[in-house]
Amino acid sequence: MKIFIDTANIEEIKEATSWGIVQGVTTNPTLVSRERRPFKELVEEICSIVDGPISVEVTATEVEEMVKEGEEIASWHPNIVLKIPMGVEGIKAVKKLSSEGVKTNVTLVFSPNQALLAAEAGATYASIFVGRLDDIGQDGMEVVEKSLQIYRNYSFTTDIIVASVRHPLHVLRAAEMGAPVATVPFKVLEAMFKHPLTDIGLERFLSDWEKLKALKIAPEK
Ligand code: E4P
Repeated sequence: MKIFIDTANIEEIKEATSWGIVQGVTTNPTLVSRERRPFKELVEEICSIVDGPISVEVTATEVEEMVKEGEEIASWHPNIVLKIPMGVEGIKAVKKLSSEGVKTNVTLVFSPNQALLAAEAGATYASIFVGRLDDIGQDGMEVVEKSLQIYRNYSFTTDIIVASVRHPLHVLRAAEMGAPVATVPFKVLEAMFKHPLTDIGLERFLSDWEKLKALKIAPEK
């Protein structure tokens, strides 16, 4: 499973990229607005850090404007994937952009039928917001499971992105289901590294090594 980082924060992107496990970035207007920087400059900097798909969302709401705005954003860097909101206008824009060879990520997907429509339109990715579904008492990962099955049934090439990830269990369930991508916030990525037994085990190994060094028979470093 590919892991993307779900942030527009340069420090988080740099840090997570240095760990060697991040293959792409997803942003949205909310994440971008937190950075208080010119949009294009921010996107170009993200593209200079991560050599992989960088999802950037259009804010127009009608097809012609979405396509125009999308083409402009896509011209900033070859790795840009246009994030287009689910809906009739969005799906029309995805159809047009994908026919031009522009990569797209249909965002705000909350049902298997919406995932099906994104694939029918030729989207590169469909982002299923599992956390927001859980928030209203629906099982977000069940939507991922059903959508993955639909894509397998018809060999769609659209990749599901498990998005709106809130905790490491979302990532685990995504990987168990065979989701192609999970986009993960920085704090959740950090949490995935941790286990109390790892800390206890390392502490014990190092203290035992110190005891051996005290006996002056351990190899010199
Ligand atoms: C990713 O593509 C989405 O923009 C993001 O995961 C939304 O997450 P949120 O529900 O935590 O805002």
